[in-house]
Amino acid sequence: MRAAVLRDNSGSLNVEDITIDKPERYEVLIQTVASGLCHSDLHFIDGSWSDLAIYPMLLGHEASGVVQAVGEDVVGIEAGDHVITCLSIFCGYCDRCLTGHSYICSQRQVISDRPIGEPPRLVDSDGVAVNQFTGLGSFGEEMLVHQNGVVKISPDMPLDRAALIGCGVTTGVGAVFRTAEVKPGSTVAVIGCGGVGISAIQGAHLAGARQIIAVDLEPQKLEWAVQLGATHTVNPNDGDPVMQVHELTGGGVDYSFECIGLKQTAEQSFGMIRQGGAATIIGMVPLGENIEVPGADLFLGSKKLQGSMMGSNNFKVDMPQLCDLYLGGRLKLDEMVSRTITLDEINDGFDAMKNGEVVRAVIDFGT
Ligand SMILES: NC(=O)c1ccc[n+]([C@@H]2O[C@H](COP(=O)([O-])OP(=O)(O)OC[C@H]3O[C@@H](n4cnc5c(N)ncnc54)[C@H](O)[C@@H]3O)[C@@H](O)[C@H]2O)c1
Ligand SMILES: [Zn+2]
Ligand SMILES: [Zn+2]
Repeated sequence: MRAAVLRDNSGSLNVEDITIDKPERYEVLIQTVASGLCHSDLHFIDGSWSDLAIYPMLLGHEASGVVQAVGEDVVGIEAGDHVITCLSIFCGYCDRCLTGHSYICSQRQVISDRPIGEPPRLVDSDGVAVNQFTGLGSFGEEMLVHQNGVVKISPDMPLDRAALIGCGVTTGVGAVFRTAEVKPGSTVAVIGCGGVGISAIQGAHLAGARQIIAVDLEPQKLEWAVQLGATHTVNPNDGDPVMQVHELTGGGVDYSFECIGLKQTAEQSFGMIRQGGAATIIGMVPLGENIEVPGADLFLGSKKLQGSMMGSNNFKVDMPQLCDLYLGGRLKLDEMVSRTITLDEINDGFDAMKNGEVVRAVIDFGT
């Protein structure tokens, strides 16, 4: 099959032919229909997270497709099913899973790949194993994934829109619904209005927040944010964004969400909350970088600083519900697809993300 492989830290992907195995026990073979480009992929391409890269690596983790075949002991998923994949692959028996926190399953690393000693799922034309990013690897025409990384969805759901739910939408909406548990009537600031931030804005709107402040450097992003639920906008080019948010709210927001992955904006997100507020960091702050916040604020202001992994999802439940919200017209996904590209155009798609031109670019595999 054709796939876009990351071979080194040169900053681009190589589209090439690789071989994918047949499904073994617990595995699902999927024909990829669509895959979104997420900034978490870009962090591995642009080098900010390359310390964790195992080359060659097949990136991509926000995808939908149609099941082609299933291995032994796969339950509830069969050939022909429409599915979304999710990187929150879970074991189902560790203490994290058993207490409803399967998005931080302690066995994820073990369960997402084949048992040691078995042949790799993917090999390149030289017979070298290709690592699947997050156990998925959706920048290829097919995916071979553990069943606990796959959820069946309604055939009514358009697959090119469903792909976005695979990461960005579940992360942004989930951070609002599940991690921060935003209350109706509250105030929210979202810093960074890409795929994840726009989803957090939509989540805040659905949760009934009365004031939703979108923060981004790109005027076009702010315009899209308003179309999708933001009530106010802040451009850091017009002055300190923390001051601007304090002025708009008379003292800070109840909840802020950092959706970029920078030390500076993570610290700003903490600065934007009022007493009793919660700042949720979603962005992948570079490995080894620390965030500094005034220690006294934490207790004097009773403020909260927390992270959110994949929107604290229970994706087998959440993703079909997000599809229903789309089908009911309440979650806007069409508006989030700024560009549809082919697999061969993938490096242009990431350039568009770097230049802040798109909410999401989505690969259409032409299936
Ligand atoms: N926690 C998780 O589970 C999880 C899941 C998915 C993505 N992420 C991370 O979330 C972050 C956002 O992902 P995305 O795909 O939405 O990215 P994106 O590139 O689509 O969006 C980032 C946005 O931030 C804006 N921006 C950049 N610098 C800014 C600044 N200084 N001030 C204000 N705005 C600024 C850009 O214009 C852009 O609109 C990334 O770090 C990604 O890795 C985390
Ligand atoms: Zn992602
Ligand atoms: Zn587990």
